Amino acid sequence: MRLRFWPASLGGRTALVLLVGLAVVQIAGLAIHALDRIDLLRLAQARDLGVRVMSIYRAVAIRPPEARAAAIGELDLPPGTQVRLEADQPPEALLPAPPPLQQLLRSNMRVIPLPPELRPTRIALFGHPGMVAVDMHLPDGPWLHIRTMLPLPRPWHSPSFLAAFLVMTVAAAALTMWAVRRLLAPVATLAAAAERLGRDVNADPLPEDGPTEVATAAAAFNTMAARIRRFVQDRTFMLTAIGHDLRTPITRLKLRAEFMEDEELRRKMLADLDELEAMVAATLTFGRDATSTEPLAPLDLAVLARTVLDEAADARPELAERLHYEGPEHLAVRARSMSLKRALANLVSNAIAYGGSARVTLSPPHEGTVQVDIEDDGPGIPPAEMDRIFQPFHRAEGSRNRETGGVGLGLPIARNILRAHGGDVTIANRPMGGARATVLLPA
Ligand SMILES: Nc1ncnc2c1ncn2[C@@H]1O[C@H](COP(=O)(O)OP(=O)(O)OP(=O)(O)O)[C@@H](O)[C@H]1O
Ligand SMILES: [Mg+2]
Repeated sequence: MRLRFWPASLGGRTALVLLVGLAVVQIAGLAIHALDRIDLLRLAQARDLGVRVMSIYRAVAIRPPEARAAAIGELDLPPGTQVRLEADQPPEALLPAPPPLQQLLRSNMRVIPLPPELRPTRIALFGHPGMVAVDMHLPDGPWLHIRTMLPLPRPWHSPSFLAAFLVMTVAAAALTMWAVRRLLAPVATLAAAAERLGRDVNADPLPEDGPTEVATAAAAFNTMAARIRRFVQDRTFMLTAIGHDLRTPITRLKLRAEFMEDEELRRKMLADLDELEAMVAATLTFGRDATSTEPLAPLDLAVLARTVLDEAADARPELAERLHYEGPEHLAVRARSMSLKRALANLVSNAIAYGGSARVTLSPPHEGTVQVDIEDDGPGIPPAEMDRIFQPFHRAEGSRNRETGGVGLGLPIARNILRAHGGDVTIANRPMGGARATVLLPA
């Protein structure tokens, strides 16, 4: 069973454990403080009471018997104290005071010196929480009965103590939260770095400073990133090397094909070789793109989109009428301008090649993302091909034999570039016919 209040984050858990620990320590500290204070308050109360009782006794006992009632009337008594003179010991409704209190009171009653002939012959102490009664037998007969309040000790009844305690608790809790947040910040940094590495293998390395464990983790992460980078570079290098080396034999084959007798066979052979050459050229471009380390820089996406359309119109003037841009005049994003232009150009060229038109719509940033839609009015993509058109060298059935001249790298290159920007591209068919490529980019 999962605990409801157990937080999901490491920071939350650490903070909770520390705060519970802090609470336990605070409560224990409070208890110790309170017990100590109660002891002290009891002592002070007993001393006070002993002196008070004995002063009253003395003031009454030194007077002659007939003047005692008047003496009691003259006493300056604290509130809640009653003094009476009785002929006999009054029946007391209270229980005898507990022995520790008795001892404490009796020893404090000796503080006030009395001549031996005035000392009480008997003393009885009664009490219950908050109340004490003392009966003292005067040597010459009557009993002096004193009943007074003994307030219960309230160890926390001090505003300054309460304020200090609150300030201490809040300060300790705030310090705990701050320390936890600070200590765990590197975990978030590491997660962000891993996320960044996933998008861009050439992302900046992590700073290798801070506490030892953090520095070690950062160093390990940087080593891993360097290895991945080298791995990707090696593969890309191999790809371009193969592409490069293929060019010479292809040229040689083309030369040889020129000398073939059979006209039909020669035409087909040369067409195949042209296709092969185009694939190699595209592979080399792809390799160049993957290894380029163009930096991210501010650029105007609206201007870029219009440039792509203008260049497409220059290449196919007969279609210029069917190329449209919709959206703001300017829109700043951070991107690699060469790569991003290639990605958009690939999508626009697909729309033109397979749909005979292109409509680029740029939507202003929404929740940190800008969206570019590239739509055409062509046949769209056969649903069965939808999953595969992003695979390298894959061309949908219908376009394979058409004179569109592609090799099937346009979409994978565009997706690669956009993902390296932290964005993506998807393609869907429009309900009213034609395809729509949707590009998302961080604003
Ligand atoms: N707008 C579109 N309408 C219809 N089919 C499309 C569209 N865009 C892409 N496709 C299909 O997806 C396939 C893959 O496209 P991709 O751009 O990757 O390669 P290509 O256009 O064939 O070659 P190139 O490398 O020259 O771009 C295309 O062959 C085509 O069949
Ligand atoms: Mg294409």
